[in-house]
Amino acid sequence: MTELLLLIGAYLIGSFATAVWVSKGVFGIDIREHGSGNAGATNTFRVLGPKAGTFVMLVDMLKGVLAVRLSYLLAASFYDSPEQLINLQVGLGLAAVVGHIFPIWANFRGGKGIATLFGMVLAIQPLVALCCVGVFLMILFLTRYVSLSSIIASIAFPVLILFIFREQEVFYRIFAIAVALMVVLTHQKNIVRLLRGSESKVPIFKNRKG
Ligand code: G3P
Repeated sequence: MTELLLLIGAYLIGSFATAVWVSKGVFGIDIREHGSGNAGATNTFRVLGPKAGTFVMLVDMLKGVLAVRLSYLLAASFYDSPEQLINLQVGLGLAAVVGHIFPIWANFRGGKGIATLFGMVLAIQPLVALCCVGVFLMILFLTRYVSLSSIIASIAFPVLILFIFREQEVFYRIFAIAVALMVVLTHQKNIVRLLRGSESKVPIFKNRKG
């Protein structure tokens, strides 16, 4: 019962619809009707500028951290073994990511899960999160596509978990694979645009060709 309540709490934290509320509350528009239509940090950068984009990115990351950390603090007294704890953390982080993608506070139309997923991994395994950031930045430098960088960094996550860090917890391993697939699914429209050559690039590293 405690686990269920915590999972619901983590989902509600993830449902905090940062991009939607910032765009509506501060700029008087619904971010989901502009740019790529995604209620995430990248589209907020694109449509509303770097300050709003950075704010949305940080809050969305914080949701993942909070879901893992705050709920962990609440639940710590119920668990003895590290294995149980990491499984609980993964479950709570996943609930927050699902909340971010399907927010109950914003008609279940949220973002693609990247920032919240990053916050979650940062809270559970900071080194893995930093490796994923490295992959993300490398692909971004090479291609200037945020979406492609997000997809490849998310695929790097299970690769790191399974083959580099050799995580033994079965639930964590399954989660890592499932979440990478979920990110691919949330980026379906981006993949179509990438294949058509119509995906937008970020205006950085402009001295590179392409
Ligand atoms: O994290 C979302 C990003 O990978 C793509 O966002 O707005 O270009 O669809 P967007």
